[in-house]
Amino acid sequence: MTSPASSLAIHGGPKAVTAVRAAPRRWGREELERLTAMVEQPSLFYWNGPQTNALLAEFRRVYPLLWVMPCSSGSAALHIAVAALRLPPGSEIITSPVTDMGSVIGILYQQCVPVFADIDPHTYNLDPADVRRRITPKTRALMVVHLAGNPSDMDALMAIAREHKLDVIEDCAQSWGACYRGKPVGLFGRLACYSLNEYKHISSGDGGIVGTNDETLGLSLTKWGDKHYDRVAGGRNPETLSPNYRISEPQSAVAAAQMVKLPAIVAAHIRFGTRLLTHLRELALPGVMLPSVDPRDTHSFWFVLLRLELACFRCTREEFVAALVAEGAHAVAGYIPKPMYRYPLFQNHDFFAGGWPLRDAGLTTMDYRTVSCPVAEAMLVDGVSLSISPTMSDEFVDQTATALAKVARHFAA
Ligand SMILES: Cc1ncc(COP(=O)(O)O)c(C=O)c1O
Repeated sequence: MTSPASSLAIHGGPKAVTAVRAAPRRWGREELERLTAMVEQPSLFYWNGPQTNALLAEFRRVYPLLWVMPCSSGSAALHIAVAALRLPPGSEIITSPVTDMGSVIGILYQQCVPVFADIDPHTYNLDPADVRRRITPKTRALMVVHLAGNPSDMDALMAIAREHKLDVIEDCAQSWGACYRGKPVGLFGRLACYSLNEYKHISSGDGGIVGTNDETLGLSLTKWGDKHYDRVAGGRNPETLSPNYRISEPQSAVAAAQMVKLPAIVAAHIRFGTRLLTHLRELALPGVMLPSVDPRDTHSFWFVLLRLELACFRCTREEFVAALVAEGAHAVAGYIPKPMYRYPLFQNHDFFAGGWPLRDAGLTTMDYRTVSCPVAEAMLVDGVSLSISPTMSDEFVDQTATALAKVARHFAA
């Protein structure tokens, strides 16, 4: 519909974003060189494969973890991490309801119980105060998700973990290159997990990495991701049940080349994310709530997630985002559609063949239909994600901020 009173692009006006964002070219000569070398190899098996060894060496340059298991996905890395803790069935692991399914799949497969704690309204990461409220005698671990590249409050969360003797698994899938107080995320908890899926800062299509500095867990990581076969000592004599989550040499070849590019890719995300937030802070648009980033930390801006105070606008979030997209901005409404406990599998407790044996056996009384995390629920209704990519330009970022201002002012109540 064209409105003469409006210059919004969605109403036929000129677009705010005219800068062309180059199509991403994420893989190139470096990946090809590794893949070319790989096809000369006699084997594509990961164990002691040249490509996988290269991936491990490059990974350890950034994340100096002593024991590292590359695997098939971030979800696999997280499953291996949970399994390695060998928690008794019914153990509770507190995590965020605003994350990917990958954070909880391994918890459920290991017969543990994801307990959702609410998030901070400004960082969207776990709210330490609410984590404390969700602790019970069955709590054994925290799964800390660093959402969108913004580090979680590790001082507070590690203090809770120490106080209650909880293990900490860091889900760093979205936070390659992020640092808390100058130290890379993943180096705080007992186990660190990373994803190399298509949509992350770096990608081998799919892939993941789990690592630890804890020697009591270290050697077992390989077993947990590899049918519980002992690749170090050799031989097949599994003592327990493990999936096959092995990476393969083609994935490792691409991932190793991507790891070399990581610093430059992360630097571009930080540069454009910071520039966008700085502009938006200066604009101080009424009703647009920006994510808070502690100045001592490095947010690696996988994306920028902001919130709208909907009472300040004469439109829905969806109308706001449609107008923003029409201006040429790369925006989507929200992140995940609802907190994870609202997904049908949680509402129906359908974890194994239509039921939840853990509950039938009396090992948990968790009822996800009664879970409530009000901040997470509100954020997923009023959040707007702006994508960040190394192929942006300063001009594109500046015009994105202008587009946001144009739309916000147009719809201001
Ligand atoms: C926070 C978080 N955790 C875990 C995962 C799972 O990673 P993958 O898709 O590699 O299994 C993702 C992927 O989207 C994620 O964003």
